[in-house]
Amino acid sequence: MREHILITGGAGFIGSNFIEYFLEKYKNYHLINLDLLTYAGDLGNLNGILDNKRHKFIKGDICNRELVEFIFKEYNIMGVIHFAAQTHVDNSIKSPNIFIKTNINGTQNLLECAKNHWLKSPFYTKEKYKNARFHHISTDEVYGSLGKKGSFSETSPYKPNSPYSASKAGSDMLVRAYNKTFGLNTIITNCSNNYGPKQHDEKLIPTIIKNAINKQPIPIYGDGKNVRDWLYVKDHCKGIDLAYHNGKIGQTYNIGGECEKRNIDIAKMICKMLDRLLPKSDKSSYINQIKFVQDRYGHDKRYAIDSTKIASEMGFRINGNLKENLHTTINYFLNKYMGGGSSKNRIPTFRFALFALFKPFVAFLSSFATFTQDSNRLDSKNPLLLFIDYFPFLNLRLIGGGK
Ligand SMILES: NC(=O)c1ccc[n+]([C@@H]2O[C@H](COP(=O)([O-])OP(=O)(O)OC[C@H]3O[C@@H](n4cnc5c(N)ncnc54)[C@H](O)[C@@H]3O)[C@@H](O)[C@H]2O)c1
Repeated sequence: MREHILITGGAGFIGSNFIEYFLEKYKNYHLINLDLLTYAGDLGNLNGILDNKRHKFIKGDICNRELVEFIFKEYNIMGVIHFAAQTHVDNSIKSPNIFIKTNINGTQNLLECAKNHWLKSPFYTKEKYKNARFHHISTDEVYGSLGKKGSFSETSPYKPNSPYSASKAGSDMLVRAYNKTFGLNTIITNCSNNYGPKQHDEKLIPTIIKNAINKQPIPIYGDGKNVRDWLYVKDHCKGIDLAYHNGKIGQTYNIGGECEKRNIDIAKMICKMLDRLLPKSDKSSYINQIKFVQDRYGHDKRYAIDSTKIASEMGFRINGNLKENLHTTINYFLNKYMGGGSSKNRIPTFRFALFALFKPFVAFLSSFATFTQDSNRLDSKNPLLLFIDYFPFLNLRLIGGGK
């Protein structure tokens, strides 16, 4: 029998990557994807998924009690993986209210519906829901900011500094309370900064790529020395999978990328990769477009995550490395921003002529590549990418999937 799992926010960045990963890995799961399609949600992120019979998309609000109750009953929901949220720190500074409503009230609404559907009374779960679990996706930002040394562990005190992180901290506390007060089977994962295909244009890495190729200034907050621990979205999906299936009830697990980098260094790295992949006609570097702008209010200086708990209890490991994963990410966004773009963004004809010349060789390497991919997108470790490294003019349109 198929098990129905409610995924919230599955048209967003991490949720859509996760659905792709989960549908591929677990053939017995039927995923009900509840997403309001705010400015951050995009059905284009579900290309190739929308017509999958084990995925159902429902446009709706996690704050809507009747709708969420209906979904629990109609599909007999046996698990929740909760991604839906307002996620952009800058927006939370301008308009905090919607962050409180979505991230706190929305989470509480989901918890209440799960409790009512799965439990007979506090600490007494109905037999058929004995394994039903509520998995809340949260952030390392709830822990605040670090000095030069150290990292956040699951026991670090909560010290959120922005309305966004405060609203996520509030939602984490509610999840904890539903476990402690009612015995709901909950789990929380707090992850570091994700990057990868399908991320919204407003976030740092897509902004760098988009502004670079559009000949716009690349804005970097403050002095650019803020440090983030970069987690590739596919690694995050694997961590969520492990925690959802093997995590201990009521526990929190941190998921980090083992990849601390200053924002300015990430920007320069991407610019250098773009210099090779899409050289400017005047041969100047995209680095020249970097512009320091006024710092964000309450900007956390450094985040770093200690993933020892999930690594030792469940064998969580990071695959690949920043360079490879950035390569895949850049190719995805080049395809997205240039694929259907205006004629000034299109790739000069002679590159296509060269591509045609090399096509048989590329096809041979591509067939090789299919053995190394773990999803329906090409993985950055395959020989095709190495080949493209040497022949940057072949790069565009080969890899990734845009809107
Ligand atoms: N992206 C990161 O680096 C990162 C890091 C740590 C934690 N997280 C957490 O991971 C989760 C997913 O983040 P993301 O980057 O994919 O976010 P995102 O902004 O790309 O996607 C959020 C999704 O939630 C949907 N949504 C918003 N309000 C809703 C509502 N009221 N009802 C239903 N759907 C609604 C949006 O339409 C969108 O599809 C969030 O909870 C976020 O706090 C993200």
